[in-house]
Amino acid sequence: MQVKEVKEELIYIEKVKKINENKKLKYYILTMGCQLNENDSEKIAGMLEEMNYEKTLDMQDADLVLFNTCCVRENAEERLFGKIGEVKKLKEENGTIIAIGGCMMQEEHITKKIKQSYPYVDIIFGTHTLNKLPQDLYEALDENKKVRDIINIDGQIIEGLPISRDDKIKASVTIMNGCNNFCSYCIVPYVRGRERSRRPQDIIDEVIGLSKNGYKEIMLLGQNVNSYLVSQKAKGEDVNFKVIVNDKEMIVNSFATLLIALDEIEGIERIRFISPHPKDFTNDVIDAIKNSKHICKQIHLPLQSGSTRVLKEMNRKYTKEEYIKLAEKIKNKIPEIVFSTDIIVGFPGETEEDFEDTLDVVQKVNFEQVFMFIYSRRVGTVADKMENQIPEEVKHKRFDRLKELVENQMKVQNENYVGKEVQILVEGKSKNNDKMLTGRTESNKVVNFEGTDDLIGKIINVKIISEHQWYLKGSIIK
Ligand code: 5AD
Ligand code: SF4
Repeated sequence: MQVKEVKEELIYIEKVKKINENKKLKYYILTMGCQLNENDSEKIAGMLEEMNYEKTLDMQDADLVLFNTCCVRENAEERLFGKIGEVKKLKEENGTIIAIGGCMMQEEHITKKIKQSYPYVDIIFGTHTLNKLPQDLYEALDENKKVRDIINIDGQIIEGLPISRDDKIKASVTIMNGCNNFCSYCIVPYVRGRERSRRPQDIIDEVIGLSKNGYKEIMLLGQNVNSYLVSQKAKGEDVNFKVIVNDKEMIVNSFATLLIALDEIEGIERIRFISPHPKDFTNDVIDAIKNSKHICKQIHLPLQSGSTRVLKEMNRKYTKEEYIKLAEKIKNKIPEIVFSTDIIVGFPGETEEDFEDTLDVVQKVNFEQVFMFIYSRRVGTVADKMENQIPEEVKHKRFDRLKELVENQMKVQNENYVGKEVQILVEGKSKNNDKMLTGRTESNKVVNFEGTDDLIGKIINVKIISEHQWYLKGSIIK
């Protein structure tokens, strides 16, 4: 297994720390991507804080500005170039260090454009060289060098980087990196490389550490979590890992056994994971969820399209019927389960009939949350070369129709919550009203309610008193 413990990174952290000694320096990070990117940003923040930088939320005030980019959809590119334009003045006036990292930096046409049009950018690093940031920063500070640190996309798993987390109750834990699926619309396999899994004990130790620090909920992250350890197994490696949880010896050799082991960790009340692939959703994972104490009875199951024909073009390797059957099978085994999903509208060649199949699946599965995306062409993917691209206008019209159906379904679901008693994990103060607290049900619905700060981090019972489209209102049951 390709795992590297940090070592020389720590030397460079010390070197930069020395350069920054007695200076009150600040960093600003803008994360533009998914939760994996956010988790990477927490690692970047952890390293920067070790190097004497303090976090600021005001970009103008920062000595180091870092953009952590995403390239899954097109509008992220326009946004990034806008942002790089914005920081030119900061560079000229204050000598601010400008660093750009993340998935988009693994795309050659993007880095080329940055080098040509924005030469003032100091550091460019990819998703696989994140751990080299201290060295890059050292070279930028000490030798005034422009550093472009993007190498092969199949980098190692790095263990032991410091991390500075944004939240005190919920934490993300990356369990694997990369993807082998090559869905025809998706750029991820090209920028994050092949699948590689972390060692089970490293994941378990991280979660035990989180629990000791008061965290209550963990979100396991990976592009394809249910193929955890699968590619190692395929290479003939022995993946029967002996792990120790609560002084108990267990064997972890799959995603299901990892879930079973994590479920044993005391203090972690909720475990979630994103994203599984429907084609790999095995019975042992369903059983692990069913028999667990802490794994939420809520599954994110990306559909992408409800049309078997489109699914084939997307290289998803399941049919409409197989998807519905899987959802039914899970529901039969775990009746309280709720589903969320991702859907792309306007994939090349999608006909009205295909789109109606998507609406049909949405109707049948009755998802509690649907993340809807308009298909966006990604350079280098198979779908980008397809000739039958759908006009923007048609895509938007379909998007609006899907949105309307989803919102109607949500309204009915929300109304069903009213009057019910639910358990929520209290996450903190409500963003819009600091007299209110906010939490989530196991099914991931946001519930706002009046309560005192000592409840933050606790699981409590509330009665739902009203629904407000994006959240529910509750009152504490005494
Ligand atoms: N266009 C639109 N949506 C996309 N996604 C991935 N690639 C694209 C694309 N090219 C969506 C998928 C995936 C989610 C993270 O982003 O629905 O599940
Ligand atoms: Fe992209 Fe498909 Fe891999 Fe998900 S499973 S990251 S959509 S290629």
